[in-house]
Amino acid sequence: MLDFPLFPDQASSIAQQIDLLYFALLGLGAFFGLGVASVLVYLAVKYRAAADVDRSNAATESIRLEVAWALIPLGLAVGMFGWGAAVYVDVQAPPSGEAIEIYAVGKQWMWQFQHENGAREINMLHVPTGLTVRMIMTSEDVIHGFFVPAFRIKQDVLPGRFTSAWFVATNTGTYHLFCAEYCGTEHSFMKGRVVVMTPPAYEQWLRLGGDDSDEFDEARVRNLEEGRPTGDDPLAGGQAVPDVSPGVMAAAGAELFDSLRCNVCHRTESAALTPSTGPPLEGVFGRRVTLHNEREIVADEQYLLESILYPSAKLVQGYPPVMPTYAGQLNETQLNQLVAYLKSISEYDAAASEESER
Ligand code: CUA
Repeated sequence: MLDFPLFPDQASSIAQQIDLLYFALLGLGAFFGLGVASVLVYLAVKYRAAADVDRSNAATESIRLEVAWALIPLGLAVGMFGWGAAVYVDVQAPPSGEAIEIYAVGKQWMWQFQHENGAREINMLHVPTGLTVRMIMTSEDVIHGFFVPAFRIKQDVLPGRFTSAWFVATNTGTYHLFCAEYCGTEHSFMKGRVVVMTPPAYEQWLRLGGDDSDEFDEARVRNLEEGRPTGDDPLAGGQAVPDVSPGVMAAAGAELFDSLRCNVCHRTESAALTPSTGPPLEGVFGRRVTLHNEREIVADEQYLLESILYPSAKLVQGYPPVMPTYAGQLNETQLNQLVAYLKSISEYDAAASEESER
C-alpha cells in the first residue's frame, strides 16, 4: 500500500483511490503551473528591453499549435472528470450485501453513536475491519460534519434529515474523528476516536454492551483486541447484564409506536375493520410509494423521518392529510428508534407478526 508522508493513514477501502486521484490532480496542476511559470520567466529574461535579440518575423498564427493546446487540455480535463466521477460514485454507493448499520447523532458538541444491538457510546466509535459499515446520521441542532481523515470520509450531518456514509475499515488501530463543519463555540472540541478492531474483538465489545464513557481507555482496547478479560465482564462487576438481543433499537421503537398510538391509524389492512386513516406500514421501508401528486418515491430513512416530522410534505396517495406533526416532541434517539422499528417490520416479517401479538 502506498503511504505518503504527512498524510493520515490509509485505513479504509477507498482511501488509496482517493489519494491517487488527489496526487494526480496535484501533479497535473504542478506540471502546468510550473511549465507556464518557467516559460514566462525564460521569455521575460530573453526578451527584456535591453536584450539584443532578433525581434523580426514573430509568428502570428499556427493552426497546429492552437489545435494542440485546445485538445490536449480538453482530453486531460475530461479524463480527470471521468476518473473523479468514478471515484465519487464508489464513495457514495455502498457495496451491495450486508452492512452493519450504526446510528449517529451530532449535537453541540459531541458525537453519539448507537449500534444495532443498542450499545451506545459518546465520542468513540468502535468498528470492525473488513465489513461494510453504514453510518446513518442526523443532528439534534445545527449542521455538523462527520469526518474521519484516515477513512477519507466526510459527510455533513443535518438536523431533520438523515444522511449516510459507508466505509470498510482495513487496518486495526485508533483514528481521529472530527466535526468538519463550524457548529458553534466548542466546534474544535467536537472530536473523538474511531477504534477499528478485528471482527471477533468487535463482537465481544458489542456483547459487553459497548461503553458509553467518553474516556479513551487504551489498555481496555488492547485487552479487547487480544481477547484478554477487560475487567468489565458484566458478571464479575455485579452490574446488570446489558440487553444484547438484536434489534434493541427496533424494540424501543415498537414501544414508542404503541405509546404514541401510531397503531390507531397505521393498522395492518387485515386488522382494520374500516379503511385505515393512514397507510399500513408493514414492508414500507424500501418500497416504492405513490404520492398524492402522482410522484413515485422510494421510502428510505429520510422519507420515514420526514413523514414523522412533516406528515403532509409527501402525502401517500389516497390518504387524508390528518396526521399531526411530531416535530419537537421526539428527540433524535426516539426518531432513530421509530425508524429502526419501521425498518424491522419491513425486513423481518416473521418477527413483526410476533411483535404485534405480544
Ligand atoms: Cu459539530 Cu463542528
